[in-house]
Amino acid sequence: MHREDFQIFNNYKSLHKSDLIYIDNTASSLTPDFVIEKMNEYYYLYKSNIDRGLYKSAERATKEYEDSRAKVADFIGAKKDEIIFTSGSTDSSNKSIMMFERYYKKNIEELKSKDEIVLVEESHHSELVPLQEFAKRNNLKIVLGLENLGDKTLLLSCPLASNVTGQIFDVKSIFNKAKSHKIITFCDMTAAAGHIDINVKDIDCDISYFGAHKMCGPSGVGVLYIKHELLNQFEPTSWGGGMVWDVNKDNTSYRSDNRRFEPGTPNIAGVIGLGYAIDYINNITIEKIRNQIEEVTVYALEKISDLEKENKIKVFAEKEINNNIGIISFEVDGVHAHDVAQILADNDIAVRSGHHCAQLFMKKNCVSALTRISLYFYNTKKDVDVFVKGLQKVLDKFQK
Ligand code: ALA
Repeated sequence: MHREDFQIFNNYKSLHKSDLIYIDNTASSLTPDFVIEKMNEYYYLYKSNIDRGLYKSAERATKEYEDSRAKVADFIGAKKDEIIFTSGSTDSSNKSIMMFERYYKKNIEELKSKDEIVLVEESHHSELVPLQEFAKRNNLKIVLGLENLGDKTLLLSCPLASNVTGQIFDVKSIFNKAKSHKIITFCDMTAAAGHIDINVKDIDCDISYFGAHKMCGPSGVGVLYIKHELLNQFEPTSWGGGMVWDVNKDNTSYRSDNRRFEPGTPNIAGVIGLGYAIDYINNITIEKIRNQIEEVTVYALEKISDLEKENKIKVFAEKEINNNIGIISFEVDGVHAHDVAQILADNDIAVRSGHHCAQLFMKKNCVSALTRISLYFYNTKKDVDVFVKGLQKVLDKFQK
């Protein structure tokens, strides 16, 4: 579906004389020509800084940048002034944890009885590692498992979907439970954004984030959502131009809106690209995207189920399709995931292998590395057929 929107498929064929089977979308999705053209348009037609110049191109750049913020807000059911642009999910995660740390220290009297941070094994390193550092600096404990939520929990972090198994978490009820214990909730939406409907008000998380590059946008741009009530109490964690009101020799006062968290010149073309990626997705509709992903994921699960029954591979994926964003990870018995990925790569099939930045998940399941396919709306059953043929080559080579 919509493959014609992606010139990269033809370009790949011209360059390598074979078809590109791109099923590594959770690592990074492809970017449609429309979004690339919109970013080029900024460079060709109105390249300038935002919020500073009074000339026509600067005004247009500022408008396009702020239009993107409105599109992002609309896309996730937030308000425009709850959106902060960052350089990606990892930046969003680090920034929000540092903002929260400042808030925590300011409110330590009220919060000191809460000394646990609850996470799930599916947490991505971009969330887990900065939280660990926060915990170490403040003598807090990391606790794994949602069953441990309670009055001692300061903070809960749960992804909307796992980047390893594709599992969609029922974050609405998880965060609802957390609220009854006055827990601040973080939601990593990176793997899910652009794949399923998102409404931050409905799931009622305090803080959440995602990156542009897994949903048809460019790399180097991220979104950080912070609920208004909390954002008002948070302070900046980086400083510079564009975020200030009044600067004196020893002291500076800051803007009171969300722009106080965006010092310096941002990735203007990237943010504009994200806005047009959202237009592109909305134009297709999340519903159609979701249907196509579901159809192809079900097909892929069926195709590899015989291999699983014969114990040739072990699948690590959410098998209830309504709860899977389109990811299937697997282990090939007796074959390292990198060897699997290499043979697939030799056949122009792009997958990811490794620990997927989720080593807690790997350890819990006693595996060191998995091969992963992650499907998006432009993938077809034909892609799956080629992948399964490639996988058969792996088995023929290693499992005689
Ligand atoms: N987090 C990205 C992935 O899952 C890079 O592949």
